[in-house]
Amino acid sequence: MDIYLAPLEGITGYAYRNAVHQCFGGYDKYFIPFIRAKQNLRFSSRETKDILPDNNKGMYAVPQILTRNAEDFLNTARQIREFGYNEINLNLGCPSKTVVSKGCGSGFLSEPEELDRFLEKIFSGFDGRISIKTRIGVEDAEDFPVLMDIYNKYPLKELIIHARVQKDFYKNTPNLDVFQAALQNSKNPVCYNGDIFTEADYRKFHSRFPEVDRIMTGRGVLANPALAREIKGGPSLTKEELQKFHDVVYSFYCENMSGDRNVLFKMKELWFYMAPMLTESRKYAKKIKKCERCTVYENIVKEFFLSQSLIII
Ligand SMILES: Cc1cc2nc3c(=O)[nH]c(=O)nc-3n(C[C@H](O)[C@H](O)[C@H](O)COP(=O)(O)O)c2cc1C
Repeated sequence: MDIYLAPLEGITGYAYRNAVHQCFGGYDKYFIPFIRAKQNLRFSSRETKDILPDNNKGMYAVPQILTRNAEDFLNTARQIREFGYNEINLNLGCPSKTVVSKGCGSGFLSEPEELDRFLEKIFSGFDGRISIKTRIGVEDAEDFPVLMDIYNKYPLKELIIHARVQKDFYKNTPNLDVFQAALQNSKNPVCYNGDIFTEADYRKFHSRFPEVDRIMTGRGVLANPALAREIKGGPSLTKEELQKFHDVVYSFYCENMSGDRNVLFKMKELWFYMAPMLTESRKYAKKIKKCERCTVYENIVKEFFLSQSLIII
């Protein structure tokens, strides 16, 4: 089973990916949060840092592009290729209103014919491998077979299916029946994504879909960065490991970001997912959320780890 780390914009930047890789490993691919393809061809400083090979040493990293413009995709993909990447992922899943209103991310799924023309252009114009990360529709999954027919026309490196529609955002449960039908129809290798939070979730999924040989996990890793190791039969996460992992991420932000506010903003985002791994998480999550100074934060976190236990799932 191959396990991929999902791209989570604002969280799984290169600092986070390196910490996961260094402390736990076990992920066969690390997807880089989306880069918006632009006409001016200039990467933002976040984007450049995220794709620099020196910042992705020893891991199989896959950059992701968000756009509905084939020229912009090709220009950006070619530029990324110069950094040495052979595989680029296309984002057809982002549900955010600002993205969808521009017809990008999962918003593109409501225009199958336009999407087909876009794919035709990018597949004929790019000589690297392209994979797609898709949702199963916008309003409902009724039209997913139409989208699958389109995906089947192209030689995808793989098709990663987040089995929710755009309007679900992250609510409701993934639609496994639609996933099953897509799996049966796909001419391309299929990767499953959605709500694999624990090893038990994985086992349940695997018992229904033993033929699926790759899954992508996102929020489950943010809570338990050892998830891939556990799924692959390795030891369970310990509290000491989680604390060490926290310290690696936190030190990186302290050294590379200016001001307590910026550092704490990043850490608070992470704690949103990670805190429930420890007992009495609500009390400490609240304290962390309120915190404005790094010195105060450090004491709260120290006490959290010292006084509480890891929740065994
Ligand atoms: C905060 C956040 C940021 C995300 N950013 C991206 C992104 O940049 N690109 C992308 O394809 N998906 C993005 N996603 C979706 C995840 O990659 C993944 O598909 C989703 O969380 C479902 O998987 P999970 O249930 O394992 O978390 C994001 C999700 C969240 C919650």
